[in-house]
Amino acid sequence: MCGIVGYIGHREAYPIIMKGLKRLEYRGYDSAGIALFDGKDIKLSKTKGKVEDLEKKIAEEISTQGSLGIGHTRWATHGVPNDVNSHPHYSNSGNLVIIHNGIIENYEPLKQELESRGYVFTSDTDTEVLVNLIEEIKNNEDIKLGKAVQIALNQVVGAYAIAVFDRTKPNEIVVARLGSPLAIGIGEDEFFIASDASPFIEYTNNAIYLKDEEMAVVRVNRGVSIRKIHDDSIVNPYIQELQLHLEQIEKGGYDHFMLKEINEQPHAIRDSFRGRLLSNQAIIKMSGVEDNMKKFLNADRILIVACGTSWHAGLVAEYIFEDMARIPVEVEYASEFRYRNPVITEDDIVIAISQSGETADTLAAIKLAKSRGAFVFGVCNVVGSSIARETDAGAYTHAGPEIGVASTKAFTTQISVLSMMALRLARAKGTITSSEFRQYLYELESIPDKIEVALESDAIVKQIAEVYKDAKNFLYLGRGYNFPVALEGALKLKEISYIHAEGYPAAEMKHGPIALIDEHMPTVVIATRKGHYEKIVSNIQEIKSRKGYIIAIVTKGDVSVKELADHAIEIPETFDCFSPLLTTIPLQLLSYHIAVMLGKNVDQPRNLAKSVTVE
Ligand code: F6R
Repeated sequence: MCGIVGYIGHREAYPIIMKGLKRLEYRGYDSAGIALFDGKDIKLSKTKGKVEDLEKKIAEEISTQGSLGIGHTRWATHGVPNDVNSHPHYSNSGNLVIIHNGIIENYEPLKQELESRGYVFTSDTDTEVLVNLIEEIKNNEDIKLGKAVQIALNQVVGAYAIAVFDRTKPNEIVVARLGSPLAIGIGEDEFFIASDASPFIEYTNNAIYLKDEEMAVVRVNRGVSIRKIHDDSIVNPYIQELQLHLEQIEKGGYDHFMLKEINEQPHAIRDSFRGRLLSNQAIIKMSGVEDNMKKFLNADRILIVACGTSWHAGLVAEYIFEDMARIPVEVEYASEFRYRNPVITEDDIVIAISQSGETADTLAAIKLAKSRGAFVFGVCNVVGSSIARETDAGAYTHAGPEIGVASTKAFTTQISVLSMMALRLARAKGTITSSEFRQYLYELESIPDKIEVALESDAIVKQIAEVYKDAKNFLYLGRGYNFPVALEGALKLKEISYIHAEGYPAAEMKHGPIALIDEHMPTVVIATRKGHYEKIVSNIQEIKSRKGYIIAIVTKGDVSVKELADHAIEIPETFDCFSPLLTTIPLQLLSYHIAVMLGKNVDQPRNLAKSVTVE
């Protein structure tokens, strides 16, 4: 939640920060602001709305000179989105200015204490409390900004990535992180600060990712000095070479990132297979699994923790792990798991799934599982993310940056990685034969090509979207492997078009949802030939006899469902266990086209943010 960006060096800071904010807007987009030091003073401008609103306001309001500055794009936690609550925030003297991503949980008592000392607050934010706490400590103890930040952070409870500078000492930016990401780009006599590397990728390939409980003072001529916030120990900076490329974070000719990412899925899945799925040699090579094979083979069960779309990928994994490797699996919402005193033992394996690797609930669930002795395996997309670091071992999905807020390629690459894991374990346990293993490998390897075919349904999906775009409710039904896809299809529609949609296991329909069926509620049914086909056909008949409209996802060459359904979208044939990788494609496209036709902001749906780093 919230994107932060900063620059100190020899270039004009404004264009770098503005471009950076646009790239980080996926993290939050209800308000934005910038503070620049123009050589004499701070020029600050902020506004409710998007970064482009800020850009317009700045053009009317402030000069944009200066080679030191910070910027913020917000997803509100404390205080409604308005101009005053937007970041950056000044301290009372006007000397310090701060941006913050995260939550200061104990801001109330700190605020009262500061108010009793005469501090006045203009916003409802926790961030304004933090900057004044820093100022109070700095003035009282007559110490440098870095030291004051450190003392202040030792008094706060919560999560943060912050950047702060002082008008009276404009040669440094102080940054710190706990629970929210922060990268420092290292240029020649210039430094970039950002929530991820995308704002500075065209300037430098070298970056330091601060770890939790670290802070850094970034000075133009003296580089970066890093310390532990709590014990003041010095940390040697680890400079990483970035693997990110500019074209990965641009729309590349597509109208929206979501559409680009839907279309990138064949490529993304091939990347997730690269070096791991070696069908000619009949091998799956995953070092995180290989190195811990004993643990996996001796595990009593696997617990999967995740949120949202990643949780849906976890449900697909439950089916495939149990089906192939015969390991009992439970899938938990991380947000429930962390608070319900679950039974976890040292013989459990916990798999945490997260695109961003920063989701607060998933991170907390991992910490809980580790504290009870479980071995935790991460399936993350963002390299070096908090979850990737917190887990004992893991496998990256290699989907590349996912910028559209609605997850698409993250979902299919997660399923791809989890499928490889399930197959590898099944082979090691002997629950599938070597010839079955080989067949599965060849079929899995063919999935990216089959997704390319599934993507050709775009034109027909668009026509269907035109027919149903004004429906107020949708039902999504699937069985077995495609029950989680029904949930995922409904989530995609809800989050970007704001149409109410529910996903159900098809057989559960008669236990309630069938009462909703009439000519106003379309039902999307996943009816592939290998997945409980006859039973799904019966479900479709039940809907048709109640005047419901059916949009069916069918296997190429299907006859029976096509006869019954009002619309049918064909996908290539595959094994039942891999079908979610194909059936999800038309559902992503359907939600995309409906949202576009309704004029919704597809990449930045209201109230959402890409990574949920707060509870
Ligand atoms: C939906 C979506 C969210 C995320 C959820 C978990 O399209 O994007 O439901 O899946 O917030 O995020 P990660 O995977 O980053 O932990």
